[in-house]
This record gives sequence, C-alpha cells and structure tokens, in this order.
Amino acid sequence: MKSLNIGICGWGNVATGMFKALNDNADAIKLNSGCSFEVKVIGARRDNPKCNPGDTKILRDIFEVVDCDVDVIVELIGGVDVARELILKAISNKKHVITANKAVIFHHGDEIFNAANKNGVKVLFEAAVCAGTPIIKLLSEELAANNISKISGMLNGTSNFILSNMEEGSEFKPTLELAQKEGYAEPDPAFDIEGMDAAHKIGILSSIAFGTPLPPEDFYIEGITSIEKSDFTYASDMGYTIKHLAVAKLENESLELRAHPALIRKSSHLANLTGVRNGMEIDTDLIGKIHIAGSGAGQESTASGLISDLVHLSNCPDVSSDESQKVKTTYKLNNFNDLVFQYYFYLEAEDKPGVMASITSMLASKKVGIESIVQKEDHGKNSVPIILITDPFKEHDHAELQKELLELDSVKAVRSIRIEAE
Ligand code: HSE
Repeated sequence: MKSLNIGICGWGNVATGMFKALNDNADAIKLNSGCSFEVKVIGARRDNPKCNPGDTKILRDIFEVVDCDVDVIVELIGGVDVARELILKAISNKKHVITANKAVIFHHGDEIFNAANKNGVKVLFEAAVCAGTPIIKLLSEELAANNISKISGMLNGTSNFILSNMEEGSEFKPTLELAQKEGYAEPDPAFDIEGMDAAHKIGILSSIAFGTPLPPEDFYIEGITSIEKSDFTYASDMGYTIKHLAVAKLENESLELRAHPALIRKSSHLANLTGVRNGMEIDTDLIGKIHIAGSGAGQESTASGLISDLVHLSNCPDVSSDESQKVKTTYKLNNFNDLVFQYYFYLEAEDKPGVMASITSMLASKKVGIESIVQKEDHGKNSVPIILITDPFKEHDHAELQKELLELDSVKAVRSIRIEAE
C-alpha cells in the first residue's frame, strides 16, 4: 500500500471538503488507487465550526506546517503573495506541493515550477482548473501525443451558474448570493463575475497546451456583469445561448487568448452545460475534438481534484516537477483588436419612423454588414428593442461602432455581445 503523510495549509471550505472526502471516501480511494493518505497536521488560523478535525494536530501559524515531518503540503489558503511565499518555503524544505490556487499558479507558475525542479519535488495543481473535472493531467498526460490547436469552454462555475439561472428567469444578484452560499464563488466574487478566474484558468491551460509563460502576456478579459436577462430571450429567438467562454487557440504560429461572454449556438455541445458545470472542447490532431464536462466549483468537486493529485504523487513521488521541464514556446500573442467576430447588438430606440433607416445607414457608412435586424415588441416606455446581428468585422471597430450607435438621436441604450464562430 502506497501512503502519504499530508500537511494542509488553510482550513476553509476547500480544505475541510478535502479532509471530509479523505475520510468519507477512504474505502473508494483505496479500492480505486491502492493508496492511503493521512492528514498529520493542519495549519488553521482559526477553527472552522463546519468541520471537526478530531485528533489531528493544529498549528495556528501556517508557515510552521511546512517544517513538519510530512511528504506533501496541500496549499489551500488562496490569494497570491502569501501563498507564493508558503509554496516556495515548502519546496525549499523538499516537500511536494499540491494546490487548488489558480491565481498563484497563473502569476508565479514558472518561478514555482523552476524552484520545484531544482529541489527535486513536484507541484501539482489539478484542482486549480475546473476543480475536480479532469483537465490538467488530461492535457499533460493522456493527450500528450497530440498537437492541440484549440481549447475553449466555460471555466468558471459561478458564471455558468449565474448565466444558466438567468436564462431560466432568475435575477443576477440573488443567484450570485446563492453561488456564494453553495461555496462556488471566490472569497471576492469579483474574480468570478469580472472574468479574472476564468482568465487565470485559460492562462494555465495555455501554458500546458502551448508552452506559454506563467504569467502570460496581458490578454482580453471581460466578465458577465453587463448581460441582461432579456438578452437570453433575444439570443434564443435566433438559436443561441450566452456563455462565459475562455479560449486559447493556436493558428499559423500565433496564439489567441481571451475570456469574455459570447453567444454560442444552442445546438453546440457547450450550450447544454448548465449550473455550476464547466465544459471544454479541445481540438486535437490525433483524436479530433474531445469534450469534457463536470462540476467546476464547490467543496466536493475540488476535493476530487486534490485527491487525484495525491494519488498521482503517491504513484510517482521520486520524479521531480515535470512542468519546468517543458519546452516554453515563443508564439506571438494576437492583438485582440485584430480578431474578427460577428456581434449581437441590443439597441433601445424611440418608437418613431426612420429609426431603422438611421441605424442601417450608420452601419453602411462604417462598412459593417448586417446579417439580421429585427424590431421587437414595444417596451411600453415609447421605446422598442432592436436586435441586430452583424456580419463579421474587426474587434478594433467594435467600441467605436457601439459609441456611434448610441450617439444616434433615436437610440437610448446599446449593448453588445460577441458571437463565437462554430
Ligand atoms: N470560483 C471558482 C468558480 C471556483 O466558480 O469556478 C473554482 O475554481
């Protein structure tokens, strides 16, 4: 029986979830993997009334945990600076590290992996992306023989939970509160709803699939806060739904990285993934498109990802960090402004003759083609919604077009969402 002694740093929702799963699912873990694990010490600044650690030793100073006689430190304190310091100290003490912390891997991954390699230890981070839904080891091991050209999907459980509930008629704010109550959202939920969390995750996946550095260069990030419930109705009328998508795509030796809301076809695989589910589509050369989906946030899903790393570690503890051994690439990151999208525009306009003509002639003057334009039923405020789908044009012209549409006399409000090409 392979066994590991564990020190946990942090004692919040994720840490207590892993502790419970190690106990509750101990038989399944032994049966499936032949491994057993013992939590020897917990670094907890305070007790957590939701979990009784029994006789396990508790240290109030999390940094003391990395001095204890354990094989692996599971870093679950979150945040960036203190987590980085803690992980580097664990590594220099020759401890393996497992973390669910996407922010610290995004910002300091290369530094951490190099330190791990120098010290002959591993740093594993399956739970940092999509919680327990397997993607890190899937990319770096099971798909290692493939050239990957694209990874796209929903990488933030909270955003998918909010958007798919809004599609069913819920309001944004109470749905976010529910996501917080369920333990899906970050301590500061701005990371979820403003797109940073998904951006961290796609940055990490890009580093594995395309060898981009951690941290990567800056790329375009937008969250879900400007999506309205009515957008789902209008999108649905045209065969679309709205998701928060993160994309890493390699084409002609240059790389596209972005995270933003998008209209996607209701018939697509990703469209049907609702609630806290994450889902990804991966384009590979040897086995074509792969789809993977599962719960992307929450205590139990994250515990599953963390324990998969413990099993991995107990199967090959003597091999030092693979991540720093990977060849880094120098693909040029495409300028987001040079990308081409079709756009959905919602316009709220005065209900008077000539409005449509003013909109279409403005678009013509900008040389932006129209795929469809539909006037919807009166809002009852002497204004009508107009839904416009453009032909593809460059992102560079998008903000200017939106501004000029709003400047039209009869137009009172404008918002837009990119349409993801199939
Ligand atoms: N807040 C994150 C999410 C947790 O909602 O996806 C999992 O990384």
